[in-house]
Amino acid sequence: MVGAAKRTKAEAVLVLGIESSCDETAVALVRNGCEILSSSVSSQVLIHAQFGGVVPEVAAREHLRAINQLLGETLRQAQTKIADIDAIAVTQGPGLIGALLVGIAYAKGLAIGLEKPLIPVDHVHAHVHGALLGLGSDFDLDALWPCLSLVVSGGHTNLYYMTGPTRFNLIASSVDDACGECFDKVAKMLGLPYPGGVHIERLARNGDHRKVLMPKLVERKSQLFFSYSGLKTHLANLIRSFSEAPSAQDLADICASFQEEALRHIVRKLVVARQLFPATKSLLVAGGVAANQRLRDLIREEIDIPAYFPPQSFCADNAAMIASYGYHLWREHGPMNYRQIDWDAYSRYKFEEVEAVNG
Ligand code: KG4
Ligand code: ZN
Repeated sequence: MVGAAKRTKAEAVLVLGIESSCDETAVALVRNGCEILSSSVSSQVLIHAQFGGVVPEVAAREHLRAINQLLGETLRQAQTKIADIDAIAVTQGPGLIGALLVGIAYAKGLAIGLEKPLIPVDHVHAHVHGALLGLGSDFDLDALWPCLSLVVSGGHTNLYYMTGPTRFNLIASSVDDACGECFDKVAKMLGLPYPGGVHIERLARNGDHRKVLMPKLVERKSQLFFSYSGLKTHLANLIRSFSEAPSAQDLADICASFQEEALRHIVRKLVVARQLFPATKSLLVAGGVAANQRLRDLIREEIDIPAYFPPQSFCADNAAMIASYGYHLWREHGPMNYRQIDWDAYSRYKFEEVEAVNG
């Protein structure tokens, strides 16, 4: 079945992707899983920033307001008629339940009205396909597998062992906060705007990461899991101990030191995973935190296999990754009747099980 990943030029399958799991409404048209005809994102970040985080009810209402217009824009940009699409892929979960239901209900309506197949997509798995979006139609996907794939976002820090574009085995995840969530919480404590990851990275560029001592998780080398609550608590205690606001240079040093440990924690785990899975040929890195240049540099320095990252604008939530993954699911499952499958929205509380790893 891995051979199904090969993209042939003779066929042209056009998938419409719809994403509404959190605070971005997104619609995209992708041909053959890799060629983005158009991709539109309507971000709610400014709306939620005033509350310091995403308010689920507000998110759902904003999706409802944006989604129809966004589809129109996406079709116009691609100069495509809705009747020309072959299938509709939509995020099924994990995510905020009210937000997910908007995208799913909209996609269902389209699928029924147009008599097109509907493909339910796991949002976290789809992020991985974001790392493949910049590779171009001539790239031979079969050369990638088996691979390790890492999703570092606001909700997840998941490491997978993959044997094909739809074959995900979860081998590690965070036992507490996700990496991006930790960036956001530390940024909030430092008085930086939401979402804070990008602001921490910006300030860290002028800082020295050796200046502020950070705790390293006591790790058994063979164990694969991520944890960020200790680092977060350390920063909370440190910030509480200040008698006055830190200088600009101190703030930059704190950001650089925090960022370095938060990212090196990931890289140390990737090194362990490489030892446990020596057959891996490549590493795919995706999710909002994959936009971080220091993470990209550390991975390229420390990991001995080719690493692929999404184009900067496809690290965060988007619908091109949903359409791309939907294409591979559809190809792999062939004539499966998508009308008969489970169409419930998966909330963030349905967790994947981490598989046992030798070591
Ligand atoms: O993938 P994403 O857009 O949404 C989720 O599915 O969670 O990821 C958002 C997360 C936020 O926590 C944000 O602070 C973080 O990605 N992020 C970053 C950077 N850009 C976004 N973290 C560190 N450095 C960045 N440059
Ligand atoms: Zn996401």
